[in-house]
Amino acid sequence: TILVLDFGSQTSHLILRRLRSLGVFAELLPCTTKIADLSWKPKGIVFSGGPSSVYDEGSPHVDPAVFDLNVPILGICYGCQEIAWRIDSKNVARGAAREYGHADVKIAKVNEHVDRLFAGLGDEIPVFMSHYDKLVSLPTDFVVIGATKNSEYAGIAHQEKPIFGVQFHPELEHTPRGTDILRNFSVDICGAQPNWKMGDFVQLEIARIRELVGDRALVLGAVSGGVDSTVGAALMREAIGDRFKAILVDNGCMRLNECEQVKETLGKHLGINLTVVEAGDLFLSRLAGVTEPEKKRKIIGSTFIDLFEQEAIRIEKEAENTPNTGKVEWFLQGTLYPDVIESLSFRGPSATIKTHHNVGGLPERMMNGQGLRLIEPLRLLFKDEVRAIGRQLGIHESLVNRHPFPGPGIAIRILGDVTKERVEIARQADNIFISMIKEAGLYDEISQAFAGLDTNRSVGVFGDQRVWGYIIILRAVRTKDFMSAEVFNFDNAFLANVSRTICNQVEGVARVVYDLTSKPPGTIELE
Ligand code: XMP
Repeated sequence: TILVLDFGSQTSHLILRRLRSLGVFAELLPCTTKIADLSWKPKGIVFSGGPSSVYDEGSPHVDPAVFDLNVPILGICYGCQEIAWRIDSKNVARGAAREYGHADVKIAKVNEHVDRLFAGLGDEIPVFMSHYDKLVSLPTDFVVIGATKNSEYAGIAHQEKPIFGVQFHPELEHTPRGTDILRNFSVDICGAQPNWKMGDFVQLEIARIRELVGDRALVLGAVSGGVDSTVGAALMREAIGDRFKAILVDNGCMRLNECEQVKETLGKHLGINLTVVEAGDLFLSRLAGVTEPEKKRKIIGSTFIDLFEQEAIRIEKEAENTPNTGKVEWFLQGTLYPDVIESLSFRGPSATIKTHHNVGGLPERMMNGQGLRLIEPLRLLFKDEVRAIGRQLGIHESLVNRHPFPGPGIAIRILGDVTKERVEIARQADNIFISMIKEAGLYDEISQAFAGLDTNRSVGVFGDQRVWGYIIILRAVRTKDFMSAEVFNFDNAFLANVSRTICNQVEGVARVVYDLTSKPPGTIELE
């Protein structure tokens, strides 16, 4: 096992993800973990990046005992600065400019010991940088193994000990050879065995669910039609059959025909016990006049919980009257790893970007009042891993491959306050955009695409008439993990055609624009 010590970067868990994709088992713990408290000895340790400055008072630091373990260490960004700063605090300072985005690292060939980290990568590799602070001098006993125009010490290695540091982020997709670097570190330098398999996950998880839930208890779960909740539900159904009760709350902000599709796929095809609560009008009335994105999320989250609770009480009553049936004791959440990280980060130092409404969980009164416990079979997984499991469970490819859709739905794709009319316009535009993407055979090349709506209106001319209509914002990105993303490159003729079709077919739209912002700095959703 490799230990990843987390300094609070938004991408720390991706280090884990990459290691796991190599078959190397890894665990993520806070950077402040005391080595004496560990019950196992790691084969190697990675220090993640983080938002702080090593030289500031109160910044997080590792337990110095990690260096006495005598196992290989790799510091990434802040982690690299931590290594250098511990040797001499003058080694790290604020750079002249923030370095953000693409850079080319020239690889230095020094000797067999230090060259191991970049072995097999050639003379130069493109990398992704995101830092302000940097190493301004080389720590004693270290040598330079890589440099960029802006960072003289983009890669460093101790001359004798297996300690390495990189200023860039090998865990991000935008460092294409990053996984090779992590393989060099974990397998070759640390000697970790690359034999951990995803395939074992389903059987282990089903067994774990059966053991947790026992022979009689019921499990409730919310489903949305997305791949995560569907896979979570399918796993539960596989494990405990009809004792799993799925609830779909229609919040009035779902995609065109989505509710029907969920009934068809989950109810009919997967044989899951499903109840649909139609509540669009209630959600929209509570959202009236609300523009602040976090407030929208909170309203949708709490309304969802109110309705879910009512339904839970009904199911509970029904169970009481059914012989040989236990109580509702568990609540399924389709939480994924990135949700956990971006929302209620368990790590002190990182910033909350958005509150994902499906993560906060049920209120105290349900969890403690009724004694419900959480069951989160997907908690350790990333999106592409969930898809792989969906296929293993026989879920249809069109659902497994479906672009993700946020719980608050179209409400967070409308910039400004949400009305039924605006949801309908965004929904129609989205359907046109997605249908045209599918017709062009581009759907599977894109990770997530949608049409959102700006409630500011723009003037246009249709025929001889002046119109004053909404602006539709098209967004399409490519990403593996949804933590960072690049904009999809359509050709202009395609986009012009989408624009024309939306303006012609969706009343109330005067203009269509394409969003060219990558993530970061933009997020995937508009809000
Ligand atoms: P962002 O917009 O944060 O999105 O770049 C990353 C991924 O998360 C989805 N997302 C959400 N999912 N509830 C959800 O269930 C939410 O509140 C939420 N916000 C964003 C988004 O669709 C993308 O796939």
